[in-house]
Amino acid sequence: MKIPFFVQEFTEEMEEAAIHALRNESFVGGESVSKFEEEFARYTGTKYAVSVNSGNSALQLSLMALDIGNKSKVITPTNSFIASANCIRMTNAEPILTDIDMKDGGIDLANNNDVVNAIIPVHIYGNPCNFDSVKLFSEEQNIPIIEDACQAHGAEYRGKKVGSLGDVGCFSFYPTKNMTVGGDGGMTTTDNEEIALKIKSIRDNGRKTKNEFDKLGFTMRLNTVNAAIGRVQLRHLDEKTARRREIATIYRKNLAHDCILPENKDGKSVYHQIVIKHEKRDDIRKELTDNEIGSAIYYETPIHKQPIYEEFGYRLPNSERFSKEIMSLPSYPQLTDEQALEICECVNRVIG
Ligand SMILES: Cc1ncc(COP(=O)(O)O)c(C=O)c1O
Repeated sequence: MKIPFFVQEFTEEMEEAAIHALRNESFVGGESVSKFEEEFARYTGTKYAVSVNSGNSALQLSLMALDIGNKSKVITPTNSFIASANCIRMTNAEPILTDIDMKDGGIDLANNNDVVNAIIPVHIYGNPCNFDSVKLFSEEQNIPIIEDACQAHGAEYRGKKVGSLGDVGCFSFYPTKNMTVGGDGGMTTTDNEEIALKIKSIRDNGRKTKNEFDKLGFTMRLNTVNAAIGRVQLRHLDEKTARRREIATIYRKNLAHDCILPENKDGKSVYHQIVIKHEKRDDIRKELTDNEIGSAIYYETPIHKQPIYEEFGYRLPNSERFSKEIMSLPSYPQLTDEQALEICECVNRVIG
């Protein structure tokens, strides 16, 4: 590919931090872990951050810390990565999948009458969801909000960072995300000390003290070396987000029609994905591929259409149509202005 869809970043600074941690700290539970947690909490504007080994674990442990489990129902949108729903089933709770807003692919709760025990809104593509409607829904039912901010490190809603809006925020550091840890990793954020302590315990086999275990738990900790790399990545997150925003602006200005999904008017997207929605989606992708330019579709199959969800028999027409018209253009900070303009020219040959 002349312009790949994604490039993995590995800098000297990341390498030095990793080697320093491996040489000087315990491989598990080293001081880089607590430092990364403190810095991430400060960045997000929450009192606590507890690191884990993936975004999926962050979601699952958050639900468990909130005592969501057997006989609980949890609502989440169908246009997301499957982990947003699987985490619910992994706790033995029932997932209630909901349809999306055709405008931006985010959760749509209008006319939703489901009675549930928790809600997992997703800040999909790095764009904050319509949190006012989520908050209203949660207040009406008196239920906790677990934000799936796995794609939205640093995004803001009404001036507050995502991950600080609900009861718990969940982040992923999978290599394609806006920041990584050089492997799998995740983070939970909260202002609630009890929840933070419970997540800390469940990520460590349900440990209460060194030799006492008072609940069931997993081994879901973040390794020290990954935390050390995460600290470097966090330091550069804002400058990389600024570049993603510039790239989105180049696309918006130079595409024949602005078919990029809109940013939440009350928030700031971090453009994890720059998504266009167009009925000629497949032709656009073909033109890009023919010109050796990478693209991708998030998500080709809404969660409710995945084989493991078919048994529930959902029909969610917005997301089914949406998934046929969307595609993502390269959005990584290393993309040059010239490359972004070349991508626009290529897309314009189809839509212009
Ligand atoms: C919206 C969303 N939720 C959850 C996850 C799960 O994160 P992880 O892959 O780190 O388990 C991801 C990332 O892949 C995601 O994009």
